[in-house]
Amino acid sequence: MERHPDDWYRRNAYTYWQESQEAAADFMHCEQEDLVFVENTTTGINTVLKCCPYKPGDILMYTTLTFRPVAYTCQATADLFKGVQFFEMEIEFPISSEDEICEKYEDFFKSNPNTKIAIIDAITSPSAVVMPLKRLVDLCHRYGVMAVVDGAHAVGTLPVNLTELGADVFTVSTGMLMAQAVSTKWLFTPRGCGMLYVKREHHTWVHPLVTCWCHGLSLDKQFFQVATRDQTPFTTSPNMHLNSYQRIGGMDKIIGYASSLATEAHEYILKKLKAEPLQIPL
Ligand SMILES: Cc1ncc(COP(=O)(O)O)c(C=O)c1O
Repeated sequence: MERHPDDWYRRNAYTYWQESQEAAADFMHCEQEDLVFVENTTTGINTVLKCCPYKPGDILMYTTLTFRPVAYTCQATADLFKGVQFFEMEIEFPISSEDEICEKYEDFFKSNPNTKIAIIDAITSPSAVVMPLKRLVDLCHRYGVMAVVDGAHAVGTLPVNLTELGADVFTVSTGMLMAQAVSTKWLFTPRGCGMLYVKREHHTWVHPLVTCWCHGLSLDKQFFQVATRDQTPFTTSPNMHLNSYQRIGGMDKIIGYASSLATEAHEYILKKLKAEPLQIPL
């Protein structure tokens, strides 16, 4: 891009974007056209929530375990659209089973039939609870609710098959972040790289938050050309980084190694701090 900007912008960037998109779609098992690059999960969530066609009375729901900026995005969206409300559903510890979580969501939908969007955390933060994703997505659809999955930590740590999952929206950050000395976001792309999956039936209303030259074109083209945004994290890296993810052994090997390490660390920290484990089903 720096050496020959004209070549980059006019000829090459879109080819690289498509190659990365193809590799990422292959990794997450979805159609290439349904997956675009965005800076991060927060941008993905903001994009979808702030574009959605609402009617007065619609409800955006999230839980007490939802990542706070995502909760704030629901609140800010409700402020933007007249008559739209947000609700925070309480999930308390101890959590005895997946059934308990599903029942809470179902009770909420039964008593709030105007729920338009439910935020589903794939892995909550900072509590690190792996949610029963597929069951919650199916439940949303049974009650006519749009399932918007915050997959921030999921890709690279859990097998993700977006076609089987059937969520309306799934968004993830892939750029590594070191927060409080803990590494999160697991595909190790450069920072400023994330992905947004949008089910085909929603393509007509999802647009980048920054309107630009490709307004009105396909989802893929609109998200490719967002003004002079730096495209390098999207266009070159996901492909490269997915290759190295596979080269070091792929999902099974990485999870196998990381899980035993996590169990060992868990036991060590509990002992050192004389603490109780989080009351969740393991
Ligand atoms: C569960 C969860 N959702 C969303 C995010 C936001 O990710 P980003 O800051 O990359 O947009 C995070 C960040 O750590 C997170 O833990």
